[in-house]
Amino acid sequence: MTQRVFSAMQPTSDSLQLGNYLGALVQWVALQDGREAIYSVVDLHALTVAPDPATLTRRTRATAAQFLAAGVDPQRSTLFVQSHVPQHAELTWILSTFTGMGEAGRMTQFKDKSAKAGQSGTNVGLFTYPVLMAADILLYDTDVVPVGEDQRQHLELSRDLAQRLNSRLGEGTVTVPEPHIVKEVAKIYDLQDPTAKMSKSSSSPHGVIDILDEPQEIAKRIRSAVTDTETVIRFDRGSKPGVSNLLTIYSAFTGRPVDDIVADYEGKMYGHLKGDLADVVVGALAPVREATMEWIESPEKLDSVLAQGAAKASVIAQATLERIGGRMGLLPLAHR
Ligand code: TYM
Repeated sequence: MTQRVFSAMQPTSDSLQLGNYLGALVQWVALQDGREAIYSVVDLHALTVAPDPATLTRRTRATAAQFLAAGVDPQRSTLFVQSHVPQHAELTWILSTFTGMGEAGRMTQFKDKSAKAGQSGTNVGLFTYPVLMAADILLYDTDVVPVGEDQRQHLELSRDLAQRLNSRLGEGTVTVPEPHIVKEVAKIYDLQDPTAKMSKSSSSPHGVIDILDEPQEIAKRIRSAVTDTETVIRFDRGSKPGVSNLLTIYSAFTGRPVDDIVADYEGKMYGHLKGDLADVVVGALAPVREATMEWIESPEKLDSVLAQGAAKASVIAQATLERIGGRMGLLPLAHR
């Protein structure tokens, strides 16, 4: 049987950052070969941070545009916006009745975000966020979920819920998904604080590369990346996190093993590495940026791709929802 791949990103910024791109999007594109891929812009998840409405709409389109620009192929894969397929919200309700309070409360992203926002700033949606994510995945009988390291715990919850459904409602109720986390790029680090992951919500924008940034800006951020007081270029995550992160990014964009790159830079300075890396990154992202702009400038074409994707996704989602509901004893709607 053809394996099914599902993954998603939140429309929480105008541009994806390099971690989203290398850790996830590049893998999504590769996994389209020989598998059935379904990718989504998860706007309902983004509602947990109360975005400005016009900004949310713009970012939803911009996120989809970047998926397409990076190589998600709508002829082969299904690309849709989460809120266009209401079954996601319906299955979330069902799954929430299978989720323990303690289980949801242990999610580290919830703990971090709610600690930052405080009791009054924390909405219930933030708490049930991983349940909605499990619904996204289980609705499509997903085999493989390509994500970065930070989603591992959420994926574990999705697997636990899938197993629980199968044990309570009968084997084969849903597929138990496997994470697809590519070790080398699973965590791209902040250029200014190379022990923290690169993130849209980073405290300083200088450590983050947005894939739609101007070439000069990208080059500047790479050139000013924090390294260390040594002068040797080698990979050592523990004592040289900055240089190791640059080598990881270099290797990911060129497809060359880190050891080969290290050998090339023997006796050279950090400045050489940074200058060359800036050229590599700028060169690789230029076509993505250009193609993104083309999609953003044709919103009707983009919306039509998303509408076709939603129609395809809904068929699968509805069948799964009816199967689960039926096994739980929800009365099927009679066909008149
Ligand atoms: P989101 O939108 O925060 O991030 C999208 C993807 O980018 C990966 N990522 C990184 N990978 C490597 N290094 C980094 N610094 C880095 N930063 C982000 C994330 O791991 C993710 O794969 N909850 C999800 C969205 C989601 C989802 C799903 C994912 C909702 N439903 C179903 C998979 C399946 C999230 O917030 O991703």
